[in-house]
Amino acid sequence: MTKNVYILYYSKTGNTRKMAEQILETFSKLESDSVDMKLMDAKELDLAALKSADGYIIGTPNYFSAPSGYIKIFFDELFMDRAILKGRPVFCFVSHGGSGDIKHLKVMCDWLELKIVGPAIVVKGNNISSKDITSIETNIQEMMKLL
Ligand SMILES: Cc1cc2nc3c(=O)[nH]c(=O)nc-3n(C[C@H](O)[C@H](O)[C@H](O)COP(=O)(O)O)c2cc1C
Repeated sequence: MTKNVYILYYSKTGNTRKMAEQILETFSKLESDSVDMKLMDAKELDLAALKSADGYIIGTPNYFSAPSGYIKIFFDELFMDRAILKGRPVFCFVSHGGSGDIKHLKVMCDWLELKIVGPAIVVKGNNISSKDITSIETNIQEMMKLL
């Protein structure tokens, strides 16, 4: 059965969206027919789809050393469903203006008892390096083993 993974992101000025698109492109090069990966803009949050997903890739700009409020809604609203979400793989990505901070994102993933895969991808602006792309690929492959 096909597994569903959502790349949930928020982006005001396009940097995090570019990272989300890069992740989808990296995934598409793996040519998996067992995983369906889709982008979801957090401004058009579909909680029902997220609740029934098999894994998550969550991206946000760093706002005041925290995730965007749009991303926090996912965690706030699905907290009561954490028994259902427990153990699903997740990895995170952050765009920042000078200081990447993923502490809050990690705390929220831990509260939902998601299984954090690999290191978060943390990038200044939209400056995605080839090293980041390698890390994205490794994280996706690691996630696919857990789906
Ligand atoms: C309200 C607001 C708060 C921000 N706070 C931080 C911050 O605490 N640390 C930081 O490095 N950048 C901060 N930034 C910069 C953004 O994280 C950065 O520009 C990011 O690339 C924006 O992503 P986006 O293009 O996807 O919206 C802030 C930007 C805004 C608009």
